[in-house]
Amino acid sequence: MELCGVPLRGPVLNGSGTFDAIAARRAFGDALLERFPFHAFVSKTITVAPREGNPPPRLWETPAGLINSIGLPNKGLEGFLASDLPELAELPVPLIVSVMGFSRDELATLVEAVAQRPEVAMIELNVSCPNVETGLVMGADPAETARALERVRPLSERPLIVKLTPNASEPEAVAAAAQEAGADAVSLINTLKGMALDPDGRGHWLGGGSGGVSGAAVRAIALQQVYAVAARVTIPVIGMGGIESGRHALDFLSAGATAVAVGTESFRDPGAGRRIAAELAALEARGVADRDAAPPPEVGMTQTGDSPPTFFRR
Ligand SMILES: Cc1cc2nc3c(=O)[nH]c(=O)nc-3n(C[C@H](O)[C@H](O)[C@H](O)COP(=O)(O)O)c2cc1C
Repeated sequence: MELCGVPLRGPVLNGSGTFDAIAARRAFGDALLERFPFHAFVSKTITVAPREGNPPPRLWETPAGLINSIGLPNKGLEGFLASDLPELAELPVPLIVSVMGFSRDELATLVEAVAQRPEVAMIELNVSCPNVETGLVMGADPAETARALERVRPLSERPLIVKLTPNASEPEAVAAAAQEAGADAVSLINTLKGMALDPDGRGHWLGGGSGGVSGAAVRAIALQQVYAVAARVTIPVIGMGGIESGRHALDFLSAGATAVAVGTESFRDPGAGRRIAAELAALEARGVADRDAAPPPEVGMTQTGDSPPTFFRR
């Protein structure tokens, strides 16, 4: 298959920030490269300046997933290009670099620098942050998203993926604006806003105050948003949010996604991407076999008006 013209051996990616391939390589050595869990690798989001991230604690486990308040710790653009990119370029799959700017100028600086590197197959724009100039979250507003895209589109020949936030009143309108302004694909969902309180009554549990909810708890929301977005745009949709099995991945593909990403499940099982890809392939093979074995429709069967909702694969 291919995604935005980039050949992929399958449709399973990682969600940005949920799998540290550099740390995993240190832990597992070249075995990681031989059994790499994903068909493309998305980097942790980088910013122009280095960031420490939020004070601990940064994670809270919910009955069905996580709340994280990591706060985008990263080495900054220069540090990433000098030390992380060469390591990520050794991965056996196409590399997608995730970037976030706190203004359109910052976003432009990031896209321009990253797009020049031949190791990078695609760029993901994480627009789930407030624009310091307007106070608006770029990805929560179609016009803000379009302005960001219009600014960076001429700076990159690499495909641009816009990572949508579910904390928008109408993610499909944001997706349509992104497509109109030149995005090559959209990915969704990022985390939903959430918080947890310290069980000992000391206020917020997370050092950053509130955080982002992910995992099984968000799957139904993600599936609906992927369905709505895929119905609105013609560019590829990368679906994610609580995917834990091949069945879940197939649901997202059936709802209109071209590819899927695995996030929180990789914390429980670092090999989850590989397992989910194998489960998905088995389900798809079974589906094809079942279809081939299905008896032909009875002669004289009539069509009623109540057809089930149409789900589709691209
Ligand atoms: C610990 C953690 C860190 C994350 N960091 C990022 C990030 O740096 N950039 C980003 O776009 N999304 C980030 N995400 C969001 C995930 O990529 C994904 O969109 C979201 O978690 C939903 O998928 P999931 O339910 O499978 O985890 C992070 C999620 C978690 C749990």
